[in-house]
Amino acid sequence: MDTIAIASDHAGPQLRAELRAALEAAGHAVLDLGTDGTQSVDYPDFAAAVCRAVTEGRARFGVLVCGTGIGMAIAANRHRGIRAAVLHDTTEARLTRAHNDANVACFGARTTGVETALDALRAFLAQPFEGGRHERRVAKIEAQNG
Ligand code: RB5
Repeated sequence: MDTIAIASDHAGPQLRAELRAALEAAGHAVLDLGTDGTQSVDYPDFAAAVCRAVTEGRARFGVLVCGTGIGMAIAANRHRGIRAAVLHDTTEARLTRAHNDANVACFGARTTGVETALDALRAFLAQPFEGGRHERRVAKIEAQNG
């Protein structure tokens, strides 16, 4: 089983707790990087913490939750080696792993229901990268990053 780094801003603690519980129930080790409490925080700080855990090899995948998932994804994708996608369903989850080798899954606590997010996260973790022609495209993304 993998180690998964997870974090949210103040919009996401409840969904984050649900996702964390499901990951632990599935046997994953979870590196929970906050935020603790409901005080307003800045989502790029939490995106950075999860991205560092992934790029430094402390976690295989990252999970980020904010109000929409969008801010987290924008912030996460600024980090070299991170490919983050906002997930709304299992199809996006499966295809972003298969084609983009996504390593960070982002969720909107104000836009996506708990069950939908849980299903999408399971699909994300179950799907391997397909490689092949997608390898070349992912390599181009990394080459263009800075
Ligand atoms: C916080 O209010 C909200 O802006 C944040 O959670 C996120 O949705 C940003 O993209």
